[in-house]
Amino acid sequence: MAQFTLTFQTIFIACCLSLATAKSDSGSFSGNLSPKALGLKKEKLTHLHFYFHDIVAGPRPTAVRVAEPTAANSSLSLFGAVTVMDNPLTITPKLRSKLVGRAQGIYASDSQNEPSLLMVFNLVFTAGKFNGSSLSILGRNAVFSSVREMPIVGGSGVFRFARGYAEARTYSFDPYAIVGYDVYAFHY
Ligand SMILES: *[C@@H]1O[C@H](CO)[C@@H](O)[C@H](O)[C@H]1NC(C)=O
Ligand SMILES: *[C@@H]1O[C@H](CO)[C@@H](O)[C@H](O)[C@H]1NC(C)=O
Repeated sequence: MAQFTLTFQTIFIACCLSLATAKSDSGSFSGNLSPKALGLKKEKLTHLHFYFHDIVAGPRPTAVRVAEPTAANSSLSLFGAVTVMDNPLTITPKLRSKLVGRAQGIYASDSQNEPSLLMVFNLVFTAGKFNGSSLSILGRNAVFSSVREMPIVGGSGVFRFARGYAEARTYSFDPYAIVGYDVYAFHY
């Protein structure tokens, strides 16, 4: 009987210990890490310059409207219109110049009073050392302002941990909008 009690106690203690271990396991999903352990060295600033082609018409549009503006106020600001784009980015304003990537995402007319867009998109690079890396942008684009500034909210590949901003300047309107972009990104 004494031996049975001892065995029972041993099992009981073993169970308690394993429960305690399970508890500390479940608490170990986070921890501190030195930036060096991830291979992060000195933060650097990169400037990118390219042209964005918002091809909304013709045989091969790269920007398509997926929701129409609301009837009221539509003539003023196209409030409610939503467009999905996969726009080419080139090194000069010429569409046939070298392709450096694409702007993939959505823009929506979100102002009732002026032509202004909510821009939510990724700059997906396909050239040189940036091939396979991307920058994510979320910002306001008042399309008739001479310079529109949009924040970079993050990035991938060489642009992991990116922060910064993009400046957009309309280069031409006809037959579709060509917009010059200057992008300033801090990253490692
Ligand atoms: C249309 O726009 C004006 C401002 O330009 C605003 O005062 C009005 O409320 C808007 N109407 C609707 C139905 O959204
Ligand atoms: C970019 O990367 C892809 C996938 O790794 C590769 O197929 C392509 O040839 C690369 N393009 C350039 C211009 O380096």
